[in-house]
Amino acid sequence: MANAKKIEKIVVLGTGGTIAGKAREAQDHVGYVAGELSVRDVLASVEGVSDILGPVALVCEEVAQLDSKDMDASIWHTLALRVRYWAGQSDVGAVLITHGTDTLEESAWFLAQTCAVGCPVILVSAMRPASALSPDGPQNLRDALVVALDAGSQGVLAVSAGAVHAARHVHKAHPYRVDAFSSGQAGVLGWVEAGKVRWQQPAGAYTSTHQDLPTPDQWPWVEVLTSHATAKATSVDALVAAGVQGLVVAATGNGTVHAQWEQALVRARAKGVVVWISTRCEQGQVVRPQSEACAWGVFTDLPALKARISLMLELMK
Ligand code: SIN
Repeated sequence: MANAKKIEKIVVLGTGGTIAGKAREAQDHVGYVAGELSVRDVLASVEGVSDILGPVALVCEEVAQLDSKDMDASIWHTLALRVRYWAGQSDVGAVLITHGTDTLEESAWFLAQTCAVGCPVILVSAMRPASALSPDGPQNLRDALVVALDAGSQGVLAVSAGAVHAARHVHKAHPYRVDAFSSGQAGVLGWVEAGKVRWQQPAGAYTSTHQDLPTPDQWPWVEVLTSHATAKATSVDALVAAGVQGLVVAATGNGTVHAQWEQALVRARAKGVVVWISTRCEQGQVVRPQSEACAWGVFTDLPALKARISLMLELMK
């Protein structure tokens, strides 16, 4: 069901990222420090917010100020709890999260899997620091507010470069360009144009099935391994010996792994490690006969980084 709440408030949770980054010089798009500005300062740089919001109030709260490459379990834990808290307030119509682009797709999927809340949760980011001559953060924030107020918004979304992406499909596809995100073959959910959302496809409902989150120090250890030419069994064996609890293999093509890994993964499973097989291909998903039993793992239709989160949450149950 799309967002039917009467919106009195929108909450913005800050986590840092380039959107809150500062460089010494305006033309510097790479030598900046992420997460320097508070979420309040980031919002202050957005012109015409009251024109978009009208009587709707904006509340902001700092959850973290980090470069998202360093995202950890304790920040995710706090973020999920704050999203649940704010989304549970009857007057809150949407929760926005300012976030770095580097692991945005992971946080988006984590929240989609842990926060079955009644309003949209929208991640917003930037590729250029706030100090840039022409920063993209303010426009992305304006667009995210437009999406927040749109009755068609639901689920966990990412808004960037005028596009609305679903948590399930969004991924960072370019390390530098402002238009850095893609939803691959699934396509974007919609476009923000001249202050309005043009939906291309309906935003999906929440799929969250993970309500209980143990304390971060109890989260299981799950790693992603990419199968490649010259792969060695020792990379699997070493992780198992070190106590890994789950492995997601970004397999070659349609779910195959290097022969060196087949037996290593069978050994890992025999020791209780849960192994999921995704693909390292950028598009699509592994397609196998339903009846196929695979000795070295279970196939997943998720991309490896998102599968890692789902497996971690499964192991927490
Ligand atoms: C980050 O992910 O925090 C830094 C990079 C970015 O936001 O583009």
